Amino acid sequence: MIERQKMRLLVNPFRDPEAEFIPLNPAVSAFHRSVDGYAPTPLVMLSGLADELGIARVYLKDESHRFGLGAFKSLGASWALHRLMEDGVTPQVVSTASAGNHGRGLAWAARRSGIKAVVFMSDSTADVRIALIRGEGARVVVVPGSYDDAVEQCAAVSQREGWQVVSDVGYDGYDVIPRWVGEGYGTIIDEVAAQLSESNLAPPNLVVVQGGVGCLASAVLSHTGVLGPRPCTVVVEPEEADCLLSSAATADGSAAPSMGSQVTTMVGLNCRLPSTTAWPVIRQHTDVFLSVSDDEVHGMMDQLATPQHGDPPVASGSSGAAGVAGLAALCLDPEFLLGREAVGLTSETRALVFSTEGPIDAKFLDAP
Ligand SMILES: Cc1ncc(COP(=O)(O)O)c(C=O)c1O
Repeated sequence: MIERQKMRLLVNPFRDPEAEFIPLNPAVSAFHRSVDGYAPTPLVMLSGLADELGIARVYLKDESHRFGLGAFKSLGASWALHRLMEDGVTPQVVSTASAGNHGRGLAWAARRSGIKAVVFMSDSTADVRIALIRGEGARVVVVPGSYDDAVEQCAAVSQREGWQVVSDVGYDGYDVIPRWVGEGYGTIIDEVAAQLSESNLAPPNLVVVQGGVGCLASAVLSHTGVLGPRPCTVVVEPEEADCLLSSAATADGSAAPSMGSQVTTMVGLNCRLPSTTAWPVIRQHTDVFLSVSDDEVHGMMDQLATPQHGDPPVASGSSGAAGVAGLAALCLDPEFLLGREAVGLTSETRALVFSTEGPIDAKFLDAP
């Protein structure tokens, strides 16, 4: 057990090199394009960082610009709600558990459709995140305990009250909507494909994505086939909340809890258990799992915000910068040689990373 806690990198024994890609559903990006305020988020080239890491390219998809909500999560929440309504279900109340971003995205999508939203959040959530969700008109229920406790509480109360759960995490008996949420994230890859092709850029041969419950990673990894030949893939988690790495370290590859303390500033990635819908996809598609410390991520946030080598600045939050921090660790950490070999890292590597959130708005941090 002590060994498991210390493991920071695992070459995935369950990787299936023939794993099928899931085609993008064109209705998803058509829907998002029809939403007021839609604009593709920037795909930024970080050539200075690529030089520093000894690779050819770093393409960074900056999701902090998504619908003015600071993170990618609105894509999944809005598509899932749209799908429900397409199926003839217009709930009076939608609910979810959230560390912040999915709840904000759902509250925003619900408000646009005139639907009430209730968001269950851990009592360790920063006030600013609660304020942002209330700012979208949602009710916030503060739950003693962790994010995972909030997921349980949301399921129980919603069943009792007849509320429609619209969650990004799948669990026993609840899987259709989390799949729709993941399908909604397909717009990110659709945009990347268009942006690479418009600029005549070679596709990535390495995709690095951060994981919480894994809904984003499963969506990204299962769609990378649209970008070009199958890339190598890395999933990055916080050292103290590494449920995906822990699951890949089990004998049979079944979903397993993180053994970490779950104390991390990467709140969007701070989950004890993988999503039941995401884990089987991630298990097939991932070459390497690795974890990063809060210090590594904070260093990367600073580096992205004030780049030294002529790169454009990128404002990234803690969970947002985890993927890039993971890429840097993969390239530079003396202990990660096995990982570099597993993904065939060379000076020809073209890495795609995702800054999944911006820093929280300073004006809210000052709020009483
Ligand atoms: C900013 C940010 N990045 C990444 C993730 C990870 O997404 P998932 O939980 O689908 O793995 C989250 C989840 O909340 C997040 O808020």
